[in-house]
Amino acid sequence: MPDPSSPLGALAPLGGVRFARLANVVLLEEAGSTNDVARRIVERALAESEEILPTVVVTRRQPRGRGRAGRSWLLPEGRGLALSLIVPWPEGPERVRVPIAWGIALAEGLSRAFLLDVRLKWPNDLLAGGKKLGGLLVEARAADGEGYAVVGLGLNVTATYEDLADLPAATSLLLEGASRDRLAGDVPLISLLRILDAGLEDLPSDLPGAFARFSAHAPGDRLRVADGARTVEGRYTGVTGDGFLKLETESGERILVSGDVTRF
Ligand code: BTN
Repeated sequence: MPDPSSPLGALAPLGGVRFARLANVVLLEEAGSTNDVARRIVERALAESEEILPTVVVTRRQPRGRGRAGRSWLLPEGRGLALSLIVPWPEGPERVRVPIAWGIALAEGLSRAFLLDVRLKWPNDLLAGGKKLGGLLVEARAADGEGYAVVGLGLNVTATYEDLADLPAATSLLLEGASRDRLAGDVPLISLLRILDAGLEDLPSDLPGAFARFSAHAPGDRLRVADGARTVEGRYTGVTGDGFLKLETESGERILVSGDVTRF
C-alpha cells in the first residue's frame, strides 16, 4: 500500500505504455485530493528551484476531493478517476487561457476516445447527454514568475444510476453508452493519459473557434452566471480569445471571467 502522505509514495511505470510528453505518472491507491498531492510536489520543486517535467497524479479513491467554488467532489467508490496534471504555467497573457484550453482538449479527447458527444459547459464542466460527466479544478502556483498549473480532473467512468442516485444531474461514461471494451480494466485510465499527452503536445489556441465546437451552449441561449453575490443574466454569444464568457445583456455586452452557469 503506497503512503498517500508522501507525494511520490507510489511512482510506478505503466508497463509498456509510452508517452511523448508525459514524463511521470504517479499512481496512488488513495489520495485525499490529487490536487493537494500535486500542489505539494509543485511547492517542493519551487522551493528547491527544481524543474518539474509534465507529471500526473492519479487515484481511484479520493475521500477529500475538492470541486470548484469550495464544493467537494465525491467519486463513486472504484467507479471514477481523479487525476491532477502538473504543467508549466506560462508567464504572460497565455496564463488565463490554461483552464479553458484544457477543458476543450478534454471534451475533444473524451469524445474521440469513448465515441461520445462530450461538451464543455463554461468554464470547466464536462457534460454528456446534458449531465455532468466530469469537472476540472485548475489551480496554479508561481514563485518569481516561474510557475506550474495543476489541472485536476474528476471523471465518472463506470458509475451506475444507483451510484449516482443522490446526484441526478450527474452521469458516467458507462451510462452514456461507452462500450464495455473501452471501459475495461485500465483502458479508461490509459485513454485519459493519452488525451493528456496529446494536450501537452498541442493545446487549442483559437479558443473561440475550439470552444464553439465543443460548447454545451448555443448562441442565443439564455444564461445566468452566479459569482459570489453577483448574478448576471444574458444571451450567450461565445467566448473571447482568452476563453472568457461573452453575454449580451440588457445593458450591453458583458465579459465574465468566472462563475457558475445555469440556463433560465
Ligand atoms: C468541479 O466540477 O467542481 C471540479 C471538480 C474537480 C475534481 C478533481 S478530482 C481530481 C482533482 N483533485 C481534487 O481534489 N479535485 C480535482
